[in-house]
Amino acid sequence: MHLHKFEKIWLVFGVGSLVLFLVVIGIGAFYKGTHPSSHLATIDPQNIEAEEAFQQDNLGMTKVEDDKYIVNLVASAFNYDFGVDDEGSPVKTIRIPKGSTVLFQATTKDVVHGFQIAGTNVNMMVEPGYISRYETVLDKPGEYTIVCNEYCGMGHHLMFATVEVYE
Ligand code: CUA
Repeated sequence: MHLHKFEKIWLVFGVGSLVLFLVVIGIGAFYKGTHPSSHLATIDPQNIEAEEAFQQDNLGMTKVEDDKYIVNLVASAFNYDFGVDDEGSPVKTIRIPKGSTVLFQATTKDVVHGFQIAGTNVNMMVEPGYISRYETVLDKPGEYTIVCNEYCGMGHHLMFATVEVYE
């Protein structure tokens, strides 16, 4: 079979670009393991309690200093666990004073979940094996819905909670 010179050049160029593309993907996604920047810490999903932040007593909101809070939570199918209130009922609403700096720390034992606070810049993916962290300042009073924006199964649409920013 006779190939024209230009056909050969383009064939080499085409195959070459494909190989280069696969090498870049291979190094970037698999060898280096690209993850969103909120995913810098790892955790054993079978034993998340080994991490202080995710022990039952430390879930929910903790005041660190004036205007500074940490909110720890465990996402699971199909719930956000923020611990329990003084009466022992599960916390479903996180109440934060306006203008506070809040660090959200989340993980999960089961499948990939989302943690988006609609109307704010908080939007994390929560993956088993990783601690997702995001710090933000909530300075607009109001009620915000936390939604799971990663499909996680039958009850995905039931997975929500509330953040209330108050004056
Ligand atoms: Cu959790 Cu969708």
